[in-house]
Amino acid sequence: MPCPPRFRGYISRGLGGCKRRLWGKSRELVIFRDGVAVVSERQAMQTRLEIRGVEVLKGYLDPKAQEAMVGDIRGVAAAAPLFSPETRFGRKMSVAMTSAGKYGWYTDRSGYRYERRHPSGREWPPIPDSVLAVWRDLVSAERLPDCCLVNFYRDGAKMGLHQDRDEADFSWPVLSVSLGDTARFRIGSVERGGSTEAVWLESGDVCLMGGPARLVHHGIDKVRFGSSSLLSDGGRINLTLRVVD
Ligand code: SIN
Ligand code: MN
Repeated sequence: MPCPPRFRGYISRGLGGCKRRLWGKSRELVIFRDGVAVVSERQAMQTRLEIRGVEVLKGYLDPKAQEAMVGDIRGVAAAAPLFSPETRFGRKMSVAMTSAGKYGWYTDRSGYRYERRHPSGREWPPIPDSVLAVWRDLVSAERLPDCCLVNFYRDGAKMGLHQDRDEADFSWPVLSVSLGDTARFRIGSVERGGSTEAVWLESGDVCLMGGPARLVHHGIDKVRFGSSSLLSDGGRINLTLRVVD
């Protein structure tokens, strides 16, 4: 379907479909005067990158929105405390994690999977509205994510290259929100091995891995600990939203 001319330039090529990709419009960054689109100053400060099909929306969340979201995630961690699980190879992960939503992502020696309950036996808390709003804006208002995985990177934590492939339907993208310290996000290919490229993710950046990039290998190989003042004791929070069923 051809996209309305006034939106050209704001539309991703990576994930296709102008309906889903009008983030400039839906965030009201595009100002219309007498029916003519005028690029706002705020939009001029924002950058959209595409690396190996992964969309990176730099500065998607402003500082106030980031602070509000951190408050909401503290609420999630109060209801479902952070834990550091073991990989299926028996190695303790360096990130601490928890989840919100219908399912939480979990790993132990039995493998990677989604669970209906936190290890404490309690259900996962609901995904905060502030987080769902990002999904509604960039992905879909009709089909909301089933899981918001919360990864917390303390000093020295990282995450090896992996694919997100524990979900039933890869036609939905994975949406990731970065909060706090800056981290180097490494992107490979759908196949294992080969060359990689990296981008620094800063607080407020949002990534979309969808379409041909839905199954690319990705990971965090470095965090600049203390580079952001968003979290009083430093560290980085990453949220990944996934449709699971
Ligand atoms: C993940 O792949 O689950 C996390 C990626 C990130 O921390 O940016
Ligand atoms: Mn991942």
